[in-house]
Formats: sequence, structure tokens, C-alpha cells
Amino acid sequence: MHTLPLYKNPSLSIDRRVEDLLSRMTLEEKIAQLYQIWARPDNIDEVKAFIRQYGVGSRILAGSNLAGSGHEKALEIEEINEYQRIAVEESRLGIPILFGRDVIHGYRTIFPIPLGMAATFDPGLVEQAYTIAAREASSAGVNWSFAPMLDIARDPRWGRIAEGSGEDPYLASQMARAAVLGFQGKDLSDPERILACAKHYIGYGGAEGGRDYNTAEITDVTLRNIYLPPFKAAVDAGVGSVMSAFLDINGEPASGSHYLLTELLKGELGFTGFVISDWASVSELVHHRVVEDERGAARLAFTAGVDMEMVTQTYIRYLKDLVESGEVSLERIDDAVQRILTIKFRLGLFEHPYANATKASETLFSPAHQQVARQIARESMVLLKNHGDLLPLKKTGLKIAVMGPLVNQRAALLGSWTLDGLLHETQTIAEAMQQAAPDAVRLAPSDALQDEMLAEAMKADVITFFAGESEGRSGENHNVASIDLPAGQEELIEAIARLGKPLVVVVLAGRPLNLSRVARCADAILYAWHPGSMGAAAIADLLFGEEAPSGKLPASFPRTTGQIPIHYNFNSTGRSFSVVGETSPLEYAYVDRYLDVPGSPLYPFGFGLSYTMFSLSGLAIDRPEIHPDEVICVSVQVTNTGSRAGTETVQCYVQDCVASITRPVRELKGFKRVHLQPGESQIVTFQLGAEELSFYGTDRRRHLEPGTFKVWVGTDSTASLGTTFQVIKS
Ligand code: BGC
Repeated sequence: MHTLPLYKNPSLSIDRRVEDLLSRMTLEEKIAQLYQIWARPDNIDEVKAFIRQYGVGSRILAGSNLAGSGHEKALEIEEINEYQRIAVEESRLGIPILFGRDVIHGYRTIFPIPLGMAATFDPGLVEQAYTIAAREASSAGVNWSFAPMLDIARDPRWGRIAEGSGEDPYLASQMARAAVLGFQGKDLSDPERILACAKHYIGYGGAEGGRDYNTAEITDVTLRNIYLPPFKAAVDAGVGSVMSAFLDINGEPASGSHYLLTELLKGELGFTGFVISDWASVSELVHHRVVEDERGAARLAFTAGVDMEMVTQTYIRYLKDLVESGEVSLERIDDAVQRILTIKFRLGLFEHPYANATKASETLFSPAHQQVARQIARESMVLLKNHGDLLPLKKTGLKIAVMGPLVNQRAALLGSWTLDGLLHETQTIAEAMQQAAPDAVRLAPSDALQDEMLAEAMKADVITFFAGESEGRSGENHNVASIDLPAGQEELIEAIARLGKPLVVVVLAGRPLNLSRVARCADAILYAWHPGSMGAAAIADLLFGEEAPSGKLPASFPRTTGQIPIHYNFNSTGRSFSVVGETSPLEYAYVDRYLDVPGSPLYPFGFGLSYTMFSLSGLAIDRPEIHPDEVICVSVQVTNTGSRAGTETVQCYVQDCVASITRPVRELKGFKRVHLQPGESQIVTFQLGAEELSFYGTDRRRHLEPGTFKVWVGTDSTASLGTTFQVIKS
């Protein structure tokens, strides 16, 4: 009787199935699982022949050969299924392929760029967005996304700040968890969930000068306390893959670092998934000049802990020889293959390898998905200024001029890394504004000259000016040396402001821009990031008051490029305060250190206004002291003191007053979004325990050091309502 091999039996445990499959594989077949292949028009036959002969771990950019050529989604899915069929039905062992793709902030329904999603301070909604991204991507045959990007970024010149959650480890950790849970769910075998990938491990956002791919020097203490937490959060949430970064950190390329990949990630953090290199980051070890040739690159990266190689071919060319020469052990090969196969089994790929085109057509850009995209876009936008309550605008009885370089753009709504969002499904700002208030809106012709724009503005009661960046001014290797608005925009805004009419400036951007000049002349500023497919409608919703803005800045906004790096959680220095000894115990201040610009940012981390006002009172702690294994509860009452409903994000910051190493002056350790009607109050509570109060010391261990802690609650990182408590020795 013909019996199924054990690995094909879904009723057995995954460990058992992996063990069985591994025992049947040749060395070549094992090495093929460590390869992520790139099929291009010029190598399709070769790629298919390779898969037929050995199978393959993964294929990158699945589907995109057809993108941009007026293809139908169904054809793309058929193409993915064709490769899968070769692996499953024509290769010896029938191991299915992982189809990897950059599903960064949505698949077809595009959500705000990740930096914008972080500005929601709403992990629940962010999880929903990634759940939708997973549902859409999986319906099209993509079962692995190279997201979330978890690189802490303190330098807005770096274009990839757009792809992450900004400057704060705690906020980024909450967002990391939300994204991983959204992509992967509780059970990876759910056909609507896909594999997530935490990237770029690690320190990539620390690139010197904001120049992408550049070296970073990050002390071990800073690495562990600032850059590591989001990765730890992703690992704790069960992320199945991690991508090793391009950069060289502290004299060691991350993709060749045994310490970072094997000791820290797989050892200390207990990561059981697999590590993929970034694009060619294995072969680039040669360019880093830490190895002589590609054979050396394969040896270094693989023994360091990179399990799968993206695109380049050093593993498939040299690993066999390296095993035969004894430079790479078979145990390490089996370890890497086992990590990859385990994920394939967990995804249920052996049982359900194919995508279904009918499902995709019902799923992609469905009305329910659009609704979530519109809501998250609204929540992502940050109201930075609203002089005289200019916003919200009335829909009737006013002439509202709508103008500026961004009004007729579509791609700039979507932002970078939107491989599958469709421009024709993305409304322009002009269209959305006109739809929202047809009687009031006056559009300046899209090709208006600047003098014509001014003349048009002169006829209006209120001017809305849409400024900012194209989608291509941020993202990978799209860095800027100056974070000022693109050339000419500030002059034009100032010229319009001189007309003396109420002026609203809405900014679309992939990074914090320098708004100093705009803030001096605009009455209202709404920061909209690149808000996604439904972004234009969301902007109109906020400008016309369908909902009040509630976003908060996930990164400090400098007053000028020269202030970079500037972040709220700076370490105490020997001269932290302007006048030593004369500060109140709870004071928090940026010290003026330049002769030509104040020490503080223009807008601090965590800042964002609403159309109503909130007040905080009655800060209380439930006990004056705790033991290291206990939790203290901090509570405060938040009241909507204005005349409209609105949402405030109450934030909790902590300082460890005296520690064995220098520590940040304050660190975010909790936040809660609270929606309140006018006059309504709510008590918000935060729990602080060992997790929040401890840090990594120079000995690479976590310390919770007894002594005094300060705690503040507020509506941004300058919060001044505070108290103290003690952690006492057990
Ligand atoms: C980027 C990664 C991305 C990969 C695959 C690389 O250039 O650094 O973030 O996932 O390409 O597209």
C-alpha cells in the first residue's frame, strides 16, 4: 500500500514533520531552501528549472513582473500559482515556496505610511490595518511581507524614517506588536494571515548623517535600550522572520554579526523563526571589505546567523563546498533549514499552497477596507496649530480656495513602498475637497501660475494650501540634506499669507519637515503625512470637522536641520539645566546650546492639538513605594473642557532619578487614547512595573535599581504634572 511520507501528514506535530522532511533532503535541496530567488523577465526559464530540480526557499517580488503593464490581478495570481505548482508538483519533495513582497502599509488598500500610523497612538487600529493588509496580500498569493520596519529613527533627513514608527522605543514597540499580530494573527495557518518580517535588524536608523546604508556607531547600552525594544516586542509577539540590515554597526556589518544575530537575537531574545538578509546584504560583505570574496561572504553571513539569502547567490554557489571543507557545519545547515521549514508548516502551506483569484477580487479594496483606511488616516493627522479656532471650516457660506502643489497628486497621497496600490482608486485632494463642500470650494486650476494662485486666493474667504513632499522624496535611499520644505513652497506660502486672509496649510510628507517659516505665517497647520488611498477624504473630514484631529507626533519636529539629532529622551548631562541647582524637582527642559536657535524642537514628541481642549488633574499613585516585583498604578483625570467631542492621548513618562549609568531625562512608558464629549471626564490609569522601570546596563543585563523615580502625565513629552515614588529593596 502506498503510504504518505510523514511530513505530508497534517495530523502530526510540526516538529515531527520537519524532522522527517529534513531526513529526506539532499544537501543541495537543503541549500535551495536557504535561497530567495528573484525571477525577472530575463531569467524565468532558469528560475523555473532551478525550482523543479531543487525546490526553493522563497521567491521575492512575487507577481511584480506583470505590475505596471496593465495586468489583471488574476493573471498575477495565476503566475504565482504556476511557480508554486512547479515546486509542489514537479520538484522531488514538493516543498511549497514562500512568496515574499513588500507589503509595507497596505497591499491594495493603502494605509498611511508607517510613521503616520504611529502618529495614531492607536495600536488596536493599526493591528486592524495590518490584518487587512494580510487578508488582501494572502488573497493574491503573497504569504510573506517584509514588514514591519522597526528601526528607531532620530534623523528626519533619513528617507526611511517614513517606514518606521519614529524616535521612541516604547511607541515603536507597541506598533511592532500591533503589526506582527495584524499580519500573523494568533495562528499563522489561518489562510488570511501571512508571515511578518521585523526589519532591519539592527541600528539601521542610526546611519550617520541620515545617509542611507551608512555606518552607525551605537554603544551597546544605546543599542539595547533604544534600538532593540521594538525587535524584542516583535519577537515576543511571535514574529516568524527577521531581516538583517545593510549597515555596518560598530565596525561589524549587521549581516555578518554573530553577536547580533545568534547571541542576541536567537539566543537572548529567544527568536525561533528565521533570519533573511536584506537585498544582497550577504554579497555586500565583500564591499564592506570584511571578507575577500563571495565564498567568504557566504561563510561569514551563514555562520553569523543569516538563514536565508535575499536575491544574491553566495549560498547556493558556496555553501556546499563550505560544508565539504568543514568551514560550515551540517548542524548549522539543518538548523537554518529547520527554521524555514517550520514556518512553512506553520503557515499551512503544505496543505494550502495556492491562491484563489476569485477571493482576491472580492477582497481587494473592499468598502470595509476603505472605511478602516479612512479612519486610520483621520487618526494619523496631527493638528499643529489652530489660531483663533480657524478649523474646522464651515461647508457653506464661505469661499474656500484650495491650492498648492499637492492638490492634484495621487501618488503623493499613497507614499513610498506602495507596490500594489492603484492611483485611479486614490482620490486627489481637489476631488475630495470639492466632494465634501461643493458650494464652498474654489479650485485653483492645476496648472495655475503662482501669480494666478495669489489672485485666486485674493478672492477667497479662507485659503487652504496643500504643501509638502512627493512620495519619492522619502523612502529607501531618498534622503535630504535639508528638511526645509521643497524649494519655493515657503516663499509662496508667505506671499499668500501676506494677503491677510485666514490661511490653513496642510502638509503631506514622509518625514518631519522644518515648519518654522510656515508656523510663523499660517493660522492653522495640519500634518497629514502620506495618508494612503483614503487620505484625501480623511483630510476633508478633518478640515470640515466630521471628526476632530487626534494624531500625536511620533518624532520631534526640529526648528532647523542643524538641530538634528534632537529627541525628547536625551540623556542627562553634567549641565542638563540652564542654571544648575535652580530647577524644580520635576522640571524638564531642553537646554539652549546653540547661539542661533533655541534648544527645544519646534514641536515636541507626542504633541498634537484637537478642536477641543483637555485638562488633566488629580494625578495620584496608589502607593508611595513598591518592591521590584510589584506594580505601581498611576492615575489621572482627563476632562474635555471645550465645546466639541474629541480624543486626547494621555501620555505617561518616567525618569529613574539616580542610576548606575546615565539615563534619559524621561521615557514614555504608557499612553491611552480617550474619547470624550464636551464636559465629560475619565480616569486614566497606567501600570508601571519592572518592565517599565528597568534598563540594560553595561553588563548587558536588565537592572531595576532601587531609589526614586519621577513620573509625569500629560498630552505631549513636555508634560509637567508629576510626582515621585520609590522602588525599595526586596
Ligand atoms: C530594502 C528592504 C526590502 C527589500 C526587498 C531592500 O532594498 O532595504 O527593506 O524589504 O529591498 O524589496
